[in-house]
Amino acid sequence: MPTPGLTADQLAAFRRDGYLVLPGFYDAATCESLVARAKALVEAFEPGEVASIFTTNEQTRVTDDYFLASGDDVRFFFEAEAFRPDGGLRQDKALSINKIGHALHDRDPLFARASRDPRLAAICADLGMADPRLMQSMYIFKNPFIGGEVGCHQDGTFLYTDPLTVTGFWVALQDATTENGCLWALPGGHLGPLRRRFRRDGAGGVTFDELDDTPFPPVESAAPWVPLEAPQGTLVLLHALLPHWSCANRSARSRHAYAVHIVDGAAAYPADNWLQRATPARGFS
Ligand code: FE2
Repeated sequence: MPTPGLTADQLAAFRRDGYLVLPGFYDAATCESLVARAKALVEAFEPGEVASIFTTNEQTRVTDDYFLASGDDVRFFFEAEAFRPDGGLRQDKALSINKIGHALHDRDPLFARASRDPRLAAICADLGMADPRLMQSMYIFKNPFIGGEVGCHQDGTFLYTDPLTVTGFWVALQDATTENGCLWALPGGHLGPLRRRFRRDGAGGVTFDELDDTPFPPVESAAPWVPLEAPQGTLVLLHALLPHWSCANRSARSRHAYAVHIVDGAAAYPADNWLQRATPARGFS
């Protein structure tokens, strides 16, 4: 019997809204094993002289070689608020990391298995992907008190293909609520244009191309945004053009999540996309 993907109703909802929330997709044991694995990886990580931070504010300024060469690797990025003025960490390393990127799905056996779940392959087929490729993954910590906001964006900005095909598979490894920085999405917003493209500038840096100046609705007012509160194990699918964002986490509870971004190998992947890999992105086999 073939692995089930999406029901007709789920597919219709994704096409209508640009996102789909699937509670209970991964069991608690799988989520906890991934959380434990990420914590162990951070524990083993020795920061270099100059630690790399990740923030979606000032993205062209803080992007560095460590970030640009992370496409095939397992690398660690700190929160902007992690450091004291003298450069030391304000708190324990484990509570200072923003994310691990961008190839846990290739480099770590536990993440590889969760990322290549046959049910995800079935969903990709239902979404019409001819040749799904696991291009990138991120483990996002949203640590208590300092977990950074992620500004409003479309994933097609960062993983551009022609035609646009990137689909986000975002998993709540811990409960995500409005208190600890869950995702917010704009229902139907994927029917609008791609606003920007983030790419290498040919001189060792990165830049944004402004493609369309249609504004996103202000995020300060809740409506028309919808919070995607997600209990542990929930899978959220995100369309390439869907505007989404998340708040800083000022609560005492962390909000760990894992996201894999899959593109269709049948689409053109530009050589100036910020994310370049030494080895081609693999599919599900
Ligand atoms: Fe995103």
